[in-house]
Amino acid sequence: GFIGMAGLGAGALVLGGCGVLSPARQNPPTARSASRIAEYALEASALELDLGGRKVSTWGYGKDLPGPEIRLKQDEILRVEVRNRLPEDTTIHWHGLPVPNRMDGVAGVTQEPIKPEGDFVYEFEVPVSGSYMYHSHVGTQLDRGLYGPLIVEPRNETLSYDREYTLVLDDWLDGVRGTPEEEMEKLKSDRGAMADMEGMEGMLGTEGGDAPPQWPPDVVYPMYLINGKPPDSPEELEVRRGEKVRLRLLNPSSATIYRVALQGHRMTVTHTDGQPVEPVEVETIRIGMGERYDVLVEASNPGAWQLAAHAEGTEKQARAVFRYRGAKDPRPRPDQRPAELAGRMLYYDALRATQEAGAPESGSPDRVLPITLNGDEETYVWTINGQAFPDADPIEAGRGERVRFEMENTTMMPHPMHLHGHFFRVDNGTGRGPIKDTVLVDPKQRLAFDWLADNPGDWAFHCHQIYHAERGMTRIIKVA
Ligand code: C2O
Ligand code: CU
Repeated sequence: GFIGMAGLGAGALVLGGCGVLSPARQNPPTARSASRIAEYALEASALELDLGGRKVSTWGYGKDLPGPEIRLKQDEILRVEVRNRLPEDTTIHWHGLPVPNRMDGVAGVTQEPIKPEGDFVYEFEVPVSGSYMYHSHVGTQLDRGLYGPLIVEPRNETLSYDREYTLVLDDWLDGVRGTPEEEMEKLKSDRGAMADMEGMEGMLGTEGGDAPPQWPPDVVYPMYLINGKPPDSPEELEVRRGEKVRLRLLNPSSATIYRVALQGHRMTVTHTDGQPVEPVEVETIRIGMGERYDVLVEASNPGAWQLAAHAEGTEKQARAVFRYRGAKDPRPRPDQRPAELAGRMLYYDALRATQEAGAPESGSPDRVLPITLNGDEETYVWTINGQAFPDADPIEAGRGERVRFEMENTTMMPHPMHLHGHFFRVDNGTGRGPIKDTVLVDPKQRLAFDWLADNPGDWAFHCHQIYHAERGMTRIIKVA
């Protein structure tokens, strides 16, 4: 059977729902014990992946990338039995959900990692709605494919739409070789080599560079994927004329900021990081690692259109095909760029939150913390306030305090900063900035956010470029 911290609580909740109460229990079941339990099982294991006819081996949840979609309703209890069939330790983090600390999945901080052949049960109530994701929180396992979408439908849906698609963006990189330590080192240098290769490609106009000999020769790394599909065998999203289509854009990629546009259409942004915003119409959405955007599209322009996710700083793009039912148009070519990519791009200053979701107003904080993001591209060490995790002091926040992080990025790299266990309000100067859990801080930019430290425990705060996070740009925030 499964062993885990959540296992003990689970029985009581199930019994409450079934009306089988212990004799000692006199009170009618509370709303909490009556909640439905959404049950899932995930197995982390090695798998053979077919990337448009190229066979590669990697790690994931289930048979394919991404892992299976977890979907439940707001206020339900999510219970996930995880089996670790990997040759190394693992955990799962529920990215964006304010879970109880011991369910947060940060190995060595909120739980002991799940050993090879071990099991663990995660179980918690989900009080918020929106588009989230789950992923491994050990090393750079995420990069191999240990990620999946997690959708929480609201108690009352206020948005009207006819159809929805979840689009999961990845910059998949094969790391399954050698010992874990060797892999880590190789993965880091592969990410460096990638940048060089991109440069070379630009100059030579050829695909890729010299791939390591054990890799399939026709695979260009990283592979830019949407829902696990490479550009030459894309997913086709079928729509009908006149429909309102909701797209949930999720970016669990390890090192890629995407610019997403849909040829022949505009997108109306309705949510960021699961939280509603005043609708704003744009042509391009810039989505950092760890961020999510929900958009609505009016299907009013029949044809077969490119839905492109351009990998910022490269010549590459991931793509899907947005096809109207019955449209005979050929697929756009894999590298065809929608003109919309040069159109109006979404920035945080255009977003206004429409509800509170537990994040305080900007202004009159109880505690202001300067957060400096620093790094050295030579040594590839990345720091927060001059300290590289794990040799770093925790940052303390009092329970119930309104805390303001004033971040300054002194580097030449963008850093998507992610706070666990809480939402925050991005200060975009309007007083009604968007409520998020991950925010891109661009090179040389200053950016502040405010949050209410109401979830006790030790929470990770880190860059979601996972190679930066692994090389120091992580901190523990103690809420006590
Ligand atoms: Cu999605 Cu600590 O991460
Ligand atoms: Cu970073």
